[in-house]
Amino acid sequence: MTGPPLPKRIYLSPPHMGPAERALLLDAFDSNWIAPLGPHVDAFEREFCETVDVPHAAALSSGTAALHLALLMLGVGPGDEVLVSTFTFAATANAVTYLAAKPVFIDSDRETWNMDPGLMEEELAECSRRGKLPKAVVAVDLYGQCADYDRILAVCGRYGVPVVEDAAEALGAAYKGKPAGSFGAAAAFSFNGNKIITTSGGGMFVSSDRSLVERARHLATQARDPAPHYQHSAVGYNYRMSNLLAAVGRGQLRVLRDRVSRKREIFRFYRRALGDLPGISFMPISGYGEPNHWLTCILVDPARFGATREEIRLALERENIESRPLWKPMHLQPVFKDCRVRGGSVSEGIFREGLCLPSGSNLTDQELERIIRGIVHTACRPSA
Ligand SMILES: Cc1ncc(COP(=O)(O)O)c(C=O)c1O
Repeated sequence: MTGPPLPKRIYLSPPHMGPAERALLLDAFDSNWIAPLGPHVDAFEREFCETVDVPHAAALSSGTAALHLALLMLGVGPGDEVLVSTFTFAATANAVTYLAAKPVFIDSDRETWNMDPGLMEEELAECSRRGKLPKAVVAVDLYGQCADYDRILAVCGRYGVPVVEDAAEALGAAYKGKPAGSFGAAAAFSFNGNKIITTSGGGMFVSSDRSLVERARHLATQARDPAPHYQHSAVGYNYRMSNLLAAVGRGQLRVLRDRVSRKREIFRFYRRALGDLPGISFMPISGYGEPNHWLTCILVDPARFGATREEIRLALERENIESRPLWKPMHLQPVFKDCRVRGGSVSEGIFREGLCLPSGSNLTDQELERIIRGIVHTACRPSA
């Protein structure tokens, strides 16, 4: 026996394409530049630089590749330590291990969920006492909210440790009026399918240091030396972005502002509808910046709300609505169980109670109301 048909599936953060992307993709196709180089790659890099107000950029096959190259450029190598936000997606820490270096995890600041600058400072002080400073710090702009760069850069500057900004989730956000991605020695962006703009898969390495970006571009192209034959003086990677995908990225950049304003509206919509419910709170928004609200995230206190975040997730799933727990902190991941962590209880609490709500910029107000009904209903009947 089959039940009634399910309502239309609502996804967490699906791609949102328009006519400009289609036209540019067809232009790339018709020009026969079907390669990891070409005019759309060059133009995407130029236009991206204007968007994030950083002078140099290299378009890559993923955000993870951008993080890997950033750390490589900063000289991270075997046996080195790199301080990393524990509350992040695995790619941030994985990039460190690609270089046979070790991540050291730093807990979140309760007020922003990003790397706690105070704990980072404590760790740097202890590393300095032990006589081995980390080779770099990777701060993450989580769920589209920038880390506190004034504090992070001031402390790291004192110790002479460079900062990489993992801005994979934060394109279109700002910190004290400056765009995400413009802090630190280099920054990485992602155009993975779930990001605020996407090329299906892709990334961008940006820096104000021209030589870093030129070297990154060289290494991303199999480190091919300028010679008519194939000659290589270094080990390279196949990390460049395809011209077809860069064309899609150019179209997406044109609508970035609209995407960000819709994400901000969605956040406000949820907050109006759910903000007064007992036991529900939202990701704290710092006074120093403007998040892009890539995903709207809530915390659920089960004692006050009457249901756990998992009960809400399962109830939404029965309504064909996708939601997802927040990132599981890296220090709790089996693969990183041997790594050092400073603090940890803040991100553990956020993980235990946190849920990402559907936040696609193409969600309609009616769909938002359907999601909200699903959440409110769970409070009354948690195990229904
Ligand atoms: C914080 C963070 N860092 C890095 C990445 C890796 O980006 P990509 O999937 O493009 O490799 C992602 C997302 O996928 C991310 O959310």
